[in-house]
Amino acid sequence: MTRPVRAAAVAMTLAALACTKPQAPVQPIPFSHTVHAGVNAIGCRMCHAYAEHSPVAGIPSMARCFGCHKFVARDKPAVQDVVKAYQEGKPLEWYRVYRVPDHVYFTHERHVAAGLRCQICHGEVQQMDVVHQASPLTMGWCVDCHRARHAPTDCLTCHK
Ligand code: HEC
Ligand code: HEC
Ligand code: HEC
Ligand code: HEC
Ligand code: HEC
Repeated sequence: MTRPVRAAAVAMTLAALACTKPQAPVQPIPFSHTVHAGVNAIGCRMCHAYAEHSPVAGIPSMARCFGCHKFVARDKPAVQDVVKAYQEGKPLEWYRVYRVPDHVYFTHERHVAAGLRCQICHGEVQQMDVVHQASPLTMGWCVDCHRARHAPTDCLTCHK
């Protein structure tokens, strides 16, 4: 690689890294949690249905969007895009906001079962038009809460 090309590649990598903790990621559809979970008070688990029973919370399928939007707000252009994507069988590629590294084991099930609200870790999502990362996701963040709540802190809890 010539130097300018490498410099450009490094700049792009840095830009990509900077993008992993964005204030306002650009989603394929302007999906608003304020509209859904706030104004219309749709429960978190209606859409993130796995949180209670599995490691992942899950992102709703297009079929779930269509379940409401075959009737609701069909006059809105953004909703028409959702319906069109569903009818063409195209899953939307949502930009992922929260992620721990592969060497870390995290599971929603145990935390939800312990009675922790989603908002303790994700912030007041029902007031966010665009979801942003509200917790640092560092080891210190996990371990501090585990200590405070008498959850296990041995290394193998989170590093299998
Ligand atoms: C009508 C469906 C719906 C409801 C209700 C809903 N969500 Fe979501 N949620 C989504 C969709 C779609 C995404 C992916 C797009 C985005 O990030 O905005 C998402 C993304 C998220 C993310 C970011 C996931 C990631 O790492 O990329 C979090 C955290 C989240 N939701 C938490 C919540 C919480 C907490 C509630 C309740 C207060 C809630 N959601 C209610 C549909 C919903
Ligand atoms: C439980 C029912 C329900 C589900 C499921 C649902 N929505 Fe909605 N959605 C609503 C309601 C209610 C509104 C507000 C309609 C209004 O204000 O006219 C809305 C509004 C919208 C809007 C327009 C926002 C605006 O006001 O500009 C978009 C875009 C949208 N939804 C996308 C989605 C997507 C994408 C999914 C699937 C990830 C989804 N919805 C799932 C009920 C739902
Ligand atoms: C103890 C903190 C904590 C609580 C409580 C919590 N989450 Fe999470 N959530 C996380 C972490 C950490 C990640 C990243 C996990 C990973 O990368 O494997 C995440 C990822 C997500 C994601 C994206 C990936 C996925 O799992 O599908 C969604 C959506 C989400 N959470 C929604 C929720 C909802 C809804 C609730 C409440 C029912 C909730 N979370 C409760 C910490 C939490
Ligand atoms: C807000 C507090 C809080 C935060 C933040 C938190 N946890 Fe936890 N975690 C708990 C509690 C409470 C339990 C115990 C649940 C129980 O007793 O079943 C737990 C349990 C667990 C378990 C299951 C432990 C077992 O018995 O095997 C794992 C794995 C885990 N947490 C990983 C993580 C990781 C990884 C993070 C950071 C990315 C994290 N937790 C952040 C409160 C938290
Ligand atoms: C409650 C969960 C939890 C426990 C317990 C835990 N870790 Fe971690 N650990 C994490 C998370 C989350 C990360 C990733 C942090 C990040 O990317 O900033 C991490 C990252 C690491 C890393 C990589 C650091 C880096 O800079 O990439 C090492 C090494 C590590 N942990 C060792 C340990 C050891 C040794 C123990 C036991 C004394 C331990 N961890 C206990 C959650 C935990």
